[in-house]
Amino acid sequence: MLTKEKLEILERNVMKIPSQGGTGIGGFLQEAAIHARQTTNIIEIGAWLGAGTAQLALGALKRINPQTIQIHTYDKFTASRPEVEKAALKNVMLVAGEDTLPKVKKFLSGFDPLIQFHKINLMNSKYPEKKPISVYVDDAAKTPELFTHMLRTFSPYWIPGETVLVFMDFRYWRRFPDKPDFKYQQFIVDNYPDSFRLLQTFERKAGVAFKYEKPLSSSDIKHAYKLFKKTLPSKSAGPVNRLLIFKQRIQRLINACINYSVKKDK
Ligand SMILES: C[S@@+](CC[C@H](N)C(=O)[O-])C[C@H]1O[C@@H](n2cnc3c(N)ncnc32)[C@H](O)[C@@H]1O
Repeated sequence: MLTKEKLEILERNVMKIPSQGGTGIGGFLQEAAIHARQTTNIIEIGAWLGAGTAQLALGALKRINPQTIQIHTYDKFTASRPEVEKAALKNVMLVAGEDTLPKVKKFLSGFDPLIQFHKINLMNSKYPEKKPISVYVDDAAKTPELFTHMLRTFSPYWIPGETVLVFMDFRYWRRFPDKPDFKYQQFIVDNYPDSFRLLQTFERKAGVAFKYEKPLSSSDIKHAYKLFKKTLPSKSAGPVNRLLIFKQRIQRLINACINYSVKKDK
């Protein structure tokens, strides 16, 4: 049984998991999991070290009937070089290329058996369970190819008028004028406004949450992909964009130098 003491320990422990956003919107994720309909699944795309997964699981545990919800989280669970540095800031030591799943499972061991892990390239993700999805959290599939695959795989199980969609990278494209592909989630929402009702924009974050309303058909998904590819600006950016891209690269270089000298001084 979940006692108040056990919940407090879990809440304290999950704050130690390095986060790329999941902890910051934890309150929203927990609420979504608390109110999710019974016998549905929660899907998370891009778990990294499990910070957002933990928030969903905390919400699921706080339900009157936690055992009626299952969280499925998909990720390649392999550390990249930049992730090694991000994790180190929270005193979690990773090695580039490391299989992170054992560490993630350890971080989330207090939530057994709520979570099912899918270690997979997202382009190959599948959903054989075919159970209705009450909450869909996406922190990885922002390109047209990946997001189209997610829409094809998961959106048939989203519940119109009910499913909460959290697109954590929705406005991420604003920081990358040289990567128009990152705007694909917004393109879908803009093109099918009847399908997405805005619930919340997360302050000072790229994420936006919606309620799924009118079902998207497979031809909508196909049509949007083709249209986006047609309207994509040509690779040769105009002078204003080129200046922005140049400024951005200089800023990244300066940040890298600052980080390096801070680390050297420690
Ligand atoms: C921004 S991180 C997720 C952060 C996490 N939601 C949090 O709150 O800390 C994105 C994750 O997506 C995963 N990812 C990105 N592209 C992927 C792909 N094609 N296949 C599998 N995993 C992928 C990365 O491994 C990474 O763990």
